[in-house]
Amino acid sequence: MRQRVLVASNRGPVSYWFGVDGTLIGQRGGGGLIAGVAPGVAAIAAHAEVSWICAAFSDADREAARRWGADPEDPADPPGTQDAQGFPIAGGVPVRMLDIPPDTFHRAYNNVANSVLWFVHHMLFDSPNQPLFGHEFHRDWASYLAYNDAFAAALAEEAMADGARDGSATADARVLIQDYHLSLAPRLLREKLEGTSRDIRIAHFSHTPWAPPDYYRMLPREVGRALLEGILGADHAGFHAERWAAAFLDCCEAILGAEVSRPGPGSPDPVGQVIHRGHVTKVDVHPLGVDAPALRARAQDDDVRAYVTAIDQVARGRKLIVRVDRTELSKNIARGLEAYRELLATRPEWRGRVLHLAFAYPSRSAIPGYRAYTDHVRRIAQDITEEFRTPDWNPLILEVRDDYPRSLAACAAADVLLVNPIRDGMNLVAQEGPVLSERGCALVLSREAGAAATLGDAALLVNPYDISETAAALHQGLAMPDAERRRRTEALAAAAAASPPARWLGDQLASLDR
Ligand code: G6P
Repeated sequence: MRQRVLVASNRGPVSYWFGVDGTLIGQRGGGGLIAGVAPGVAAIAAHAEVSWICAAFSDADREAARRWGADPEDPADPPGTQDAQGFPIAGGVPVRMLDIPPDTFHRAYNNVANSVLWFVHHMLFDSPNQPLFGHEFHRDWASYLAYNDAFAAALAEEAMADGARDGSATADARVLIQDYHLSLAPRLLREKLEGTSRDIRIAHFSHTPWAPPDYYRMLPREVGRALLEGILGADHAGFHAERWAAAFLDCCEAILGAEVSRPGPGSPDPVGQVIHRGHVTKVDVHPLGVDAPALRARAQDDDVRAYVTAIDQVARGRKLIVRVDRTELSKNIARGLEAYRELLATRPEWRGRVLHLAFAYPSRSAIPGYRAYTDHVRRIAQDITEEFRTPDWNPLILEVRDDYPRSLAACAAADVLLVNPIRDGMNLVAQEGPVLSERGCALVLSREAGAAATLGDAALLVNPYDISETAAALHQGLAMPDAERRRRTEALAAAAAASPPARWLGDQLASLDR
């Protein structure tokens, strides 16, 4: 019997826009979560009956949701799940978009998920001034609850539906709920399924770090409790790194008074287990790596090769320091630029011999703090250019236009890759870079990225707040003998390739069934 798997995430694997004649055109959904999760979902879809539930973001998404969303008679593959070349955008997986009222969606996504939960888990608050939990927040929180309830209702409906699209029988559903947008959905879904004789199992996965209890306690009491209890509605709670799983267990103990066990290192059991309100949740670590063969194959395409040539022409034999990020507060782009400034100031031997390519793509511009941060990053970049530029040397290129093939090319050509987040659940660029590297590249990596746990030994680890240490690591990376750089790159690439998306998702399904 085929396995039935339901995936739920805020952003979906496909998004729509209106063509000039008003027709709906589908394109692959953006963002790091989709880049990581979609290949895994596509791989399990080869042997399981999979559906993906996500939120409509735009008017075109809402139109698609209305046309193909709710009617069970609809075709399984609505137009638009293939792109113009016939490529299955969502890996051939049918997508159900939820048409959540725009105000509710905005409050849940921008005001709660991205302005509060993201900030708590990445410890980003400017605490003398933020956060402020007043009546407006409580209105937003009600929207977050309604938004999670809409997902839980759709998941319950799908989980209780019988059989596959071709009429054959399927096993009871396994539900994989993604990230901090949907922290309440596991419990809400469990409540909706109460009384059923079906063996439906639920997993939740956090792609972010998890805050330690002292910081997490900033949240209003009932909110902090509801988020933990929401995730504990799942049978399995997954994290990218042991640190985040441990912090979650600590919060369950300190804030809920739940019964927590931690089997300890070397145990074959998961990292921990929580018993709360009579329900057991296994807590486990599943680091997400990259599909190295697919990535290397993509890097051979003409568009990437053309950019590699263009970058070589701009660099003219100079060493390249590369970073590729969304302009996201947690990515610490400003301190990365300050570290580069310090490198040029304190080690003048690099002036004229190095070029920093900083790709900082737009992100979450609906949030005012992000717009201000983008301006701040631009100003620092301009100052560095003005301070050090000579008639025949430009020290820095800051590029804010998103261009995937160009990012791949920059990683392929880099001598040093800088990944210095304040905190990061995992970080894919730190893993993609070494896989794509053609000459060997030194990785300067924040010790606060989840990826530090899997890549640490071969990377140059830094404290992300310490720009002097970061500048010294940039120097070490630039000056590193070629043989050592290549050896480290091979080790980094092997670690990144060890848990590709298909294995990452397969392992979670296997732990749900243990
Ligand atoms: C990054 C984070 C994920 C998060 C996603 C949301 O990829 O690592 O944890 O789900 O951003 O991005 P979005 O653009 O959808 O707000």
